[in-house]
Amino acid sequence: MNEALRIGVAGLGTVGSGTLAILQGQAELLAARAGRRLEVVAVSARSRTKPRPVPIDAYRWYDDPLQLAADPALDVVLELMGGEDGVALEVTRAALAAGKSVVSANKALLAHRGGELARLAEANGAVLAFEPAVAGGIPIVKALKEGLAGNRVRRVYGILNGTSNYILSTMRATGRDFADVLAEAQALGYAEADPSFDVDGIDAAHKLALLAAIAFGVEPAFDQVHVEGIRQVAATDIAYAEELGYRIKLLGIAEATDHGLAQRLHPCMVPATSPIGQVEGVFNAVVAEGDAVGVATFVGRGAGDAPTGSAVVADLMDLARGHRSHAFGVPSATLATARITPISERRGAYYLRLTVDDRAGVLADVATCLREQNVSVETMIQRHRATDQPVPIVLTTHEADEAAMREALRAIAALRAVREPPRALRIETL
Ligand code: HSE
Repeated sequence: MNEALRIGVAGLGTVGSGTLAILQGQAELLAARAGRRLEVVAVSARSRTKPRPVPIDAYRWYDDPLQLAADPALDVVLELMGGEDGVALEVTRAALAAGKSVVSANKALLAHRGGELARLAEANGAVLAFEPAVAGGIPIVKALKEGLAGNRVRRVYGILNGTSNYILSTMRATGRDFADVLAEAQALGYAEADPSFDVDGIDAAHKLALLAAIAFGVEPAFDQVHVEGIRQVAATDIAYAEELGYRIKLLGIAEATDHGLAQRLHPCMVPATSPIGQVEGVFNAVVAEGDAVGVATFVGRGAGDAPTGSAVVADLMDLARGHRSHAFGVPSATLATARITPISERRGAYYLRLTVDDRAGVLADVATCLREQNVSVETMIQRHRATDQPVPIVLTTHEADEAAMREALRAIAALRAVREPPRALRIETL
C-alpha cells in the first residue's frame, strides 16, 4: 500500500469529532477504497481534557493550531474551527503557504476570502477543498464541480440552513409563532443561544455565495448576496401560504439574468408540492438547473457530526486518491468578478397581507396603488369581519418588478385605512 495521507485536525467540536469517528471506525474500508491509509497525526482544540465522544490520546497534541499547521509531518490540515477571520484565517493561510492542502468547513471564511485562499493554494501546489462548508452531508460541491461540469448552470437554489427550516416547519405544523418556536429550539439545543447567523440568513448566505462561485465561475462574495432572515415571518402568513397552495421557505437563489448574476437569500413562498416545498425539518436541499441535465435535486442532512464528517472524509478521500481540483472548479486566476443584478431588478409574483379598516373604498384605494405601478392582482382573500376591528386582506400578484412593488407598498402603507405595515413575500416559481 502507498504511504498514508497524514492529517492534522484543527478544531474538535461537533464536526471534528464526527470526522474522527468516521476515520477511526472506517479506517480499513477507507484504506481499501483509497489504496492508502488516512492517518490522523495531530490535533488541536481549545481544551485537551474536555470529554469527547472519540479518543484523541493517540494523536500529537497542539495547544496552538498555528503550530499544528506548521507541522512538517502533515499533508493536509482540516480547518474545523470556524470564524470568518482571526485564527481560522491564519491557520488556513499558513497551511496553504506551506504547500499543505486544507479541507475547510468554514463557510464564513470562504464566502469572504475564498478567492484569495484559492489563489494561495494554487500558487503553492496545494488543494483547498470545502465540501463540508455547504449543506453538510449533501455532496453538492462535488456535484457542481464534477458531476454537472458539462452543464451551463442557469440557476442554483436551495434550503441551506437546517435550523431555519426546522423553525419554519414547526411553525407550520403547530401554528405557533416564530419567537415561541425559536425559544423551544434553543431549549432543545437545536438552535444556538445566539441564533442570528441561522435565523437572519447569514449562514445560508455564506453557503449561497460558495455555490454561486462554483456554478458561475465567479469569486465568492458574501457582500453581494441580498440577505433577509425569517424573524418577520408570521404564523398567519404561514397559514395563508398553506391556503394558497404554498409553503414558506428560507431560500438561497443564485441565477443568471440578462444583466448579470442575482444572489439572494430570503423567505419566500414556494409551491407546496415542489421538491423544495416538501423538504421539512432540519433537512437541507439544493436544486441545480443545467442546460443539459435539466433539474437535479439533492436532499439531505445539512449539519451534525456524522453528516458533516461524511463531507470532510469525502474531500480527504479525493486527496488520498490524488484527485485534485480547483477550489471553485476553475483555475482561480480566471474567477470573474460577478456583475450583480440587484434585488430591485427581481421580477416575479408577490404575496401581500394588509391590515385595513373594513369600510367602502379601501380595496379600491389599494387597487389604485397597485395599478399605478402596473402590478396586476391574481387572487384576493378577505374575511373575518368584526365590527370596528381592522381586517386582513391577502393578495397575490402576477409577475411584477420588485422596484415597482416596493413603490406600490410605500403608497399602500401611507393609506389612512392601512393600520399596520404591509407584509410582503416573494413567490418563487420552481
Ligand atoms: N447552523 C447550520 C444549520 C449548520 O442550522 O443548518 C451549519 O452551517
